[in-house]
Amino acid sequence: MQTSDMLHTSSRATNLSATESIVILDFGSQFTRLIARRIREAQVYCEILPHEASWEQVQALNPRGFVLSGGPASVYEADAPQLPAYVLASGLPILGICYGMGLLTQALGGDVQPAERREYGQADVMLDTSSPLFKDLPRPLSVWMSHADLIAAPPPSFQTIGYSANAPVGAMAGSGPQGQPIYGVQFHPEVAHTQHGDQIYRRFLFDVCGCVGDWTSQHFIEASLASIREKIGPTGRALCALSGGVDSAVAATLVAQAIGERLTCVFVNNGLLRQDEAESVVETFRDNLGLNLIYVDASARFLAALAGVIDPEAKRKIIGTEFIRVFEAEAAKIGPVDWLVQGTLYPDVIESATPESKNASRIKTHHNVGGLPADMQLKLVEPLRYLFKDEVREVGLELGLPPEVVWRQPFPGPGLAVRVIGEVTPERLTVLLAADAIVRQEITAAGLDQRGEVWQFFAVLTPLQSVGVMGDGRTYANVVAVRAVSSRDGMTADWARLPHELLARLSNRIVNEVKGVNRVVYDITSKPPATIEWE
Ligand code: XMP
Repeated sequence: MQTSDMLHTSSRATNLSATESIVILDFGSQFTRLIARRIREAQVYCEILPHEASWEQVQALNPRGFVLSGGPASVYEADAPQLPAYVLASGLPILGICYGMGLLTQALGGDVQPAERREYGQADVMLDTSSPLFKDLPRPLSVWMSHADLIAAPPPSFQTIGYSANAPVGAMAGSGPQGQPIYGVQFHPEVAHTQHGDQIYRRFLFDVCGCVGDWTSQHFIEASLASIREKIGPTGRALCALSGGVDSAVAATLVAQAIGERLTCVFVNNGLLRQDEAESVVETFRDNLGLNLIYVDASARFLAALAGVIDPEAKRKIIGTEFIRVFEAEAAKIGPVDWLVQGTLYPDVIESATPESKNASRIKTHHNVGGLPADMQLKLVEPLRYLFKDEVREVGLELGLPPEVVWRQPFPGPGLAVRVIGEVTPERLTVLLAADAIVRQEITAAGLDQRGEVWQFFAVLTPLQSVGVMGDGRTYANVVAVRAVSSRDGMTADWARLPHELLARLSNRIVNEVKGVNRVVYDITSKPPATIEWE
């Protein structure tokens, strides 16, 4: 088997855990991922497939129904994405959202018109609450509209089950050529701005498609253990780079439960970890969870390689290269290994717009700890490839991982090197470690770290020196910046409105307790235009 085939095969593994599924055909909407979130939240397994997906790809998932996403095109554009013929021919229930509704209308003989002006924003829709899709919903319902086309008339024999001021057919219901139930909504029930949108998906999943909602973490774990065992076989050996983060931790724990000692985890201390982090990772994974863990303290080597380096990209590159060297050296000591465990998540898979089989052979650097050797010739095990982050956390809790690992905030691969602005020296790292520990203690003590209320919080050591006065004397010392942001996914972020009393405590403690700091500033920049990390 070719490596790419292996990767592709490995990538299908987690589907086996679903006894029912929904296929979301993607027509390019920015909200498609949210549709998947809403369906998974209802404990129904689903996958997003491109609208060009073949019937074989769809069939492999054995779906109970289709959701057709929205999309930026108008059904009248020359190269507008088309509705695959198998959708209507399958006889499966269909829910078309926005562009998806337009495609259904067009295919079934209704009338789609370009709207005079694009409708974008909040609207009130009068729903027919006798329709199974809208059972028990309030009317009017406040929804989020974002569409260019307009349905002037639904297909013959279809009923209009919702309308708004700008959308005479805001929702429709009818039967397809095989007698299957078909629904279309002009608005977007998947976005938070649509009231009770989750209920609309639930009605479609449970009442229309007959799903039962058995996609639970327990179910996932059982099925995934079986599929990992089958894939790796009775004698195969696997290797995993543990970073301390939740993704690699959950992936490693799953594989360890499946194959025990035949999994070796390597945890590299690059000297750029936070206070007490190395000890806590070893204690958690080796001592408490019993993983076969090799701990490598390579801090001296990393710091030597970083000496004199100021450019952020150069720092990242050096850290990535050093990591690969250390990891390879450790892997060589273990002997022959067949499989590499990675904590790739579904959003990474979705983000790669190209078909999975094409990009699976390319190991993306952000998937792993600083990028792994491309020439190791290992087959991949990616047990989390079809999970969203919150599902990974649930699985982690179910597997018995401690909450501090499961809820650990994101930490960049290059570690504190990108938070010591300018040269990374042992002395400057010591200052940052102490200041950062205070930031973490205080924000945690204030309870703001719970369940991602503040997405990330940390200290940054700036390259600035400022004048201060302490006791009776003049000081000339470091300026520390505190960064705390709220975010849903790290793609955009807002600076956290921390209480002033908390900021005051942080500042007092850092200046009083951390030698070499005489000034603390708070970063009040959002992303964009700034990034979360300073480098
Ligand atoms: P930025 O600074 O780009 O960060 O706004 C967005 C999120 O990504 C994290 N980050 C990284 N994670 N390797 C990683 O694994 C990296 O090189 C890296 N750089 C930034 C950052 O902490 C934030 O959560």
